Amino acid sequence: MRTHATMVHQKFNLIVAACENSGIGIKGNLPWRLKNELKYFNKMTKSTVDPTKKNAVIMGRLTYFGIPASKRPLPDRLNIVLSTKSVADDYPDDVVLCSSLNEAMKKLSETDLCSNIESIWICGGNSVYKEAMASDYCHRIYYTEIKAKFDCDAFFPDIPSSFQIVPNDEDVPSDEQEENGLKYQYKIYEKQKP
Ligand SMILES: NC(=O)c1ccc[n+]([C@@H]2O[C@H](COP(=O)([O-])OP(=O)(O)OC[C@H]3O[C@@H](n4cnc5c(N)ncnc54)[C@H](OP(=O)(O)O)[C@@H]3O)[C@@H](O)[C@H]2O)c1
Repeated sequence: MRTHATMVHQKFNLIVAACENSGIGIKGNLPWRLKNELKYFNKMTKSTVDPTKKNAVIMGRLTYFGIPASKRPLPDRLNIVLSTKSVADDYPDDVVLCSSLNEAMKKLSETDLCSNIESIWICGGNSVYKEAMASDYCHRIYYTEIKAKFDCDAFFPDIPSSFQIVPNDEDVPSDEQEENGLKYQYKIYEKQKP
C-alpha cells in the first residue's frame, strides 16, 4: 500500500552557515554579522529558473522568530514553519504552519497552494537539519564555513558520511571571503547515491 510518506518525492537542499565549533546560533540570533553572507542566503533561496515560480523555505519555530520582525516572513519565498506548539494565529496568513517535516513535504507535493514552488530549502535549526540530512530526498548542503570559533547554543549536526564535497556551482564563489575581519568559504556537499 502506498503511504503518504512514499508519495513525497520532491528533492530539497539545506543551507547553513556554521563556525569551526559547528555553531549556528546564540540566544535565538546569528552569532556573527555578515551582510554579504546574508545576501548569499537570500540570493540562493530566492532564485528560480522559472520566473513565474518561487521557492519554499522550511524552518523551525525558533529560527523563524530569530529573523528580525521587519524581515519575516522572508520575502518572495513561501515560508513554512515547523512547530508542535504554535497555532496559525501566531503567524501572518502567508506563513504555512506544519507540525512535522513530513507534513511540510506532503503539502508541498500534494496541494494546489504550492504548485508554483520550484525548489525547497531547509533553513534550520538543529533538529530540522538533522532530520533533513537523513532523508533520501536531501540533495545538497550549501554550507558556509565560518573560519572562527563563536560562543553558540545551537549547532549544526554532524554531516553524514553519505555526503561529499562537490565543486561549487558557477554562481557560488570558491575563493575565501572576508567581511568584518572574518574569513569564510562557501562549500557544497552532495548526497552520494548508494
Ligand atoms: N547559521 C545558520 O545558518 C542558522 C540557520 C538557522 C538557524 N540559526 C540559528 O539557530 C537558532 C535556532 O535553531 P534551533 O535549533 O535552536 O531551533 P529551531 O530548529 O529553529 O526551532 C526549534 C523548534 O522548532 C520546532 N521544530 C523543529 N523541528 C520540528 C519538527 N520536525 N516538527 C515539528 N516542529 C519542529 C519545535 O517547535 P515547538 O517547540 O513549537 O514544537 C522546536 O522547539 C537561532 O539562534 C538561529 O538564529 C542559524
